[in-house]
Amino acid sequence: MPDALDEKAIEILKDNDRGGYTVPTAGLYPYQWNWDSAFVALGFATFDRDRAWREIETLFDAQWTDGFLPHIVFRVDDPSYFPGPSVWRTGKSPETSGITQPPVAASITRWMWESADHDEARVAALYPKLLAWHRWFHRYRDPLNKGLVLCTHPWESGRDNSPEWDEPANAVDTTKVEPYQRRDLALIDHDMRPSTDDYDRYIAILQSGRDNDWEHAAIAKNGPFRVFDIGMTMILLRANRDLLRLAEFFGTSDECDELSSRIKLTEESVDYLWDEESRAFCSRDAITGKSSSMVTSASFLSFYAGVGTPSQKEHLLENFDRISKRVRYMLPSHDPDHDKFNSILYWRGPVWAIVNTMVALGLAEAGLEKAAARIYGDTRKLIEKTGFYEAYCPITGEGTGGADFSWTAAMWLHLAKAGGQPQSMKGAA
Ligand code: GLC
Repeated sequence: MPDALDEKAIEILKDNDRGGYTVPTAGLYPYQWNWDSAFVALGFATFDRDRAWREIETLFDAQWTDGFLPHIVFRVDDPSYFPGPSVWRTGKSPETSGITQPPVAASITRWMWESADHDEARVAALYPKLLAWHRWFHRYRDPLNKGLVLCTHPWESGRDNSPEWDEPANAVDTTKVEPYQRRDLALIDHDMRPSTDDYDRYIAILQSGRDNDWEHAAIAKNGPFRVFDIGMTMILLRANRDLLRLAEFFGTSDECDELSSRIKLTEESVDYLWDEESRAFCSRDAITGKSSSMVTSASFLSFYAGVGTPSQKEHLLENFDRISKRVRYMLPSHDPDHDKFNSILYWRGPVWAIVNTMVALGLAEAGLEKAAARIYGDTRKLIEKTGFYEAYCPITGEGTGGADFSWTAAMWLHLAKAGGQPQSMKGAA
């Protein structure tokens, strides 16, 4: 592996470090983001473990007393970003947004803990906070009591403008959206960013949460956007397995039982998100009950979560092979055969290194080495060819979104450190 890329990746993390937390990229995202920080910790862990733990610790400093962990922590008010703290108005200190993001932190804490033997005290301090966050999901985001995660804003999914959200979001009333000015379009090519209509819906859903005083029980009951997200469901299932591993060392036997039963519940219910038409795991609108029937990169997170019958796995691999013949670089965020595929438009086609890392790990653990190697190799090629972008066009490899992106730099360092193979990260318990 070229040393120059290692050095560049380290430089990006250091440059984006704002003192205990890292911004995803300077300019476009000037605050601390939830799942970004967790992934970034894996990058820091390759050269500064103390700094790596701090990244996760500072994120949890913003945890609400009920266990909720926000998707953005606003430590400074930066007028170059919209919507900032004055729009969210959650009234917390530090100021935060009112929605969450995919719960990858427990998995990453486990991997970091198992890769060295001297961080016990820090993991012990994080464990109850991770457990409180997972309990928050179970309490407020599992309306069917099936262990399937309800997402109440497209931004919660981390896949902000995935076509999976188009239909559920189209039903959102945007007539009361207060006037606003987007800031992202001054920084990034318009063709790569969500549309104005999408933005109106994002803000309408945000305003509705604010009108509910960010009472998550009310939002989960009446919010205008309520979807069972396949990505968050699979990520939480995996994270529960990893948290169980931590609970065995740092928790009580009751907590282990509690996590085991949550895992079992999701395993038994996940078929609700299987879609026969696309032969894949897909998100499902909780209001209409309708499946998106779309194959996205999140569909393949079932391997990472360790679920799927032999026949479901076979169908997913058929989809994987079909997609792999249509693009040069795996894994596109959306199906290239679908009419909403757009190779450079944010979560409607581009490839994301963090999703690739999770999917490749899952495939490797399932013994699907060839598919894992394709994803891992393509991730490496994209970074070697184009540098550390937010995402990449799966056809040309061109960089999309922000440059010098923290989690892409972190994934480069992490995968390189793991001997170039994602399976050297520890598997699920
Ligand atoms: C975008 C992405 C989201 C990410 C954030 C910061 O909103 O969709 O997943 O956390 O940028 O990188």
